[in-house]
Amino acid sequence: MAAENSLRILLANPRGFCAGVDRAIKIVELAIKKFGSPVYVRHEIVHNRYVVEGLEAKGAVFVDELDEVPTDMPVVFSAHGVPKSVPAEAERRNMVYVDATCPLVSKVHRQVERHLMHGREILMIGHAGHPEVIGTMGQVPDGTVTLIETVEDVAKFEPKNPEKLAFVTQTTLSVDDTSEIVAALLDRFPSLDQPNKEDICYATTNRQIAVKEVAKQADRMIVIGAYNSSNSMRLVEVSEKAGCPAKLVRRAVELDWDWLDGATAVGISAGASAPEVLVEEVIEALKGHYDAKLELVTTAEENVVFKVPPILKDVA
Ligand code: F3S
Repeated sequence: MAAENSLRILLANPRGFCAGVDRAIKIVELAIKKFGSPVYVRHEIVHNRYVVEGLEAKGAVFVDELDEVPTDMPVVFSAHGVPKSVPAEAERRNMVYVDATCPLVSKVHRQVERHLMHGREILMIGHAGHPEVIGTMGQVPDGTVTLIETVEDVAKFEPKNPEKLAFVTQTTLSVDDTSEIVAALLDRFPSLDQPNKEDICYATTNRQIAVKEVAKQADRMIVIGAYNSSNSMRLVEVSEKAGCPAKLVRRAVELDWDWLDGATAVGISAGASAPEVLVEEVIEALKGHYDAKLELVTTAEENVVFKVPPILKDVA
């Protein structure tokens, strides 16, 4: 412990909650208000234990699969999106469901359907097993979408018709790694159909730009988030790629004081599903160990807000 040591805390802005996460949490709260508790939620509504436990305390019950939900109980689908088979099954069972899929993920779902309609073979750049990837690939029949995780996967891919290829991406990828994969795809398949606008969402992009800026000035980077949160893990990688060693912490109690030893400027950011209260907790812990001065590093202003679904309008 070195309370006399001085430290600059460089707080990345934007950081933390995005409009999609904000909306998903609001949807669960409003669903509890409208239907009473319990309200079932299929999968972690967003990838953050603190948020999940907070909602559990208010009356949410988290389950892995739809068949764990009693038919007469309302269910919410998480912000990451679900395969088409999930709402179809809920309808078959006459269940009340509310879809908290982020509108920016839904947009990618519609693109996948459009590509299929136009007879294009579809590639998805993303991480195997992530719920968003499972949801997006599940918008069309099994085997329709090929997952591309790396530049090596591009080299191995054998299209049915190289003239009729399209790609979409997960919304929470590393902007730089994805450009490398897209460049490799375009190199092999110049007539590849590209999204009109990047699928990586505004929040992911803005948080990565802010972390890169902070990384230039910091000797260590702390990212508050979760290990299963894709965008949080990408922030750690972006900082390290920019030359600033980074660690993910879920709570202040996980801070590694030995690792921080000798630092004069520590950057802080948070994944899109990490609440600001956890950022404040980490800042307080640093202030307890150092003579710390807080500086804000702003690279963008955000004012995106998404509306809640019509089914909850009367309680919003
Ligand atoms: Fe949506 Fe991007 Fe957040 S896709 S949930 S705004 S990280």
